[in-house]
Amino acid sequence: MIQPFAIQSPTQIFFGRGELERIPDILGQERLREGAILLLTDRGVSPFLICRYVVLDPLATLGLPPELTGSTGLDALCHLLECYISKKANPYSDLFALEGIRLIFASLKTAFDNGQDLEARSNMLLAAFYGGVCIASSSTTGVHALSYPLGGMYRIWHGVANAMLLAPVMEFNQDAIPDKLERAAKAVGIEGDGRGLVSAFIQALEDLTRYVGIPPRLSAFGIEKKDIPELTSRAMEVTRLLSNNPKPISREEAAAIYERIL
Ligand SMILES: [Fe+2]
Repeated sequence: MIQPFAIQSPTQIFFGRGELERIPDILGQERLREGAILLLTDRGVSPFLICRYVVLDPLATLGLPPELTGSTGLDALCHLLECYISKKANPYSDLFALEGIRLIFASLKTAFDNGQDLEARSNMLLAAFYGGVCIASSSTTGVHALSYPLGGMYRIWHGVANAMLLAPVMEFNQDAIPDKLERAAKAVGIEGDGRGLVSAFIQALEDLTRYVGIPPRLSAFGIEKKDIPELTSRAMEVTRLLSNNPKPISREEAAAIYERIL
């Protein structure tokens, strides 16, 4: 049975020729306008939703407003970085992940400031595509797991919710993946060594998030301390992603991450 699952991410839209027409039949027009990810609960993702062709046309992205450029760009960064530090990471996904992370650090600010900059738009499109390639062989992790309830319960844009959690979850994970965070830091041009590189990279994630106007606090969306237990319960249900996080996230630790950005 097919069930609507969550808000869709613009970087994760995979439609095959001929299959797109079937989706309105399955979901109904109203549901399709809201956006959804299809999950076949008994068999995983349907092969009919895997694309045969991908068209990357930066001209089609020129009119994207800055706030969508920023939030979708950071969602792509989450795909790349989470896949890079995932338990499912592999040499193939690492190649695309590091290059995608580099492209986003090189181009997101420019695309945000000047949506007509074709080179920046091209780089962002390519980076977003690389994120999709990574997800196909690796997986997102704690950031997306904790982000889903924010979208589901409070309708916070998927990219915004992920962006708010990106630096805090990497901070939580840093002890388990220092070498990977060091390599990511070097990939984006940060100089230094050891733990200095790691903390500088996490700070750079925070800075990029602020640059594109992502609110730093959940309270900006009316979320209060009393809401955290329910958020945490829902996040702990996303075991298919939590299980790929480089270190276990307990219920208490998930709640602490939400509280850190409350
Ligand atoms: Fe996403």
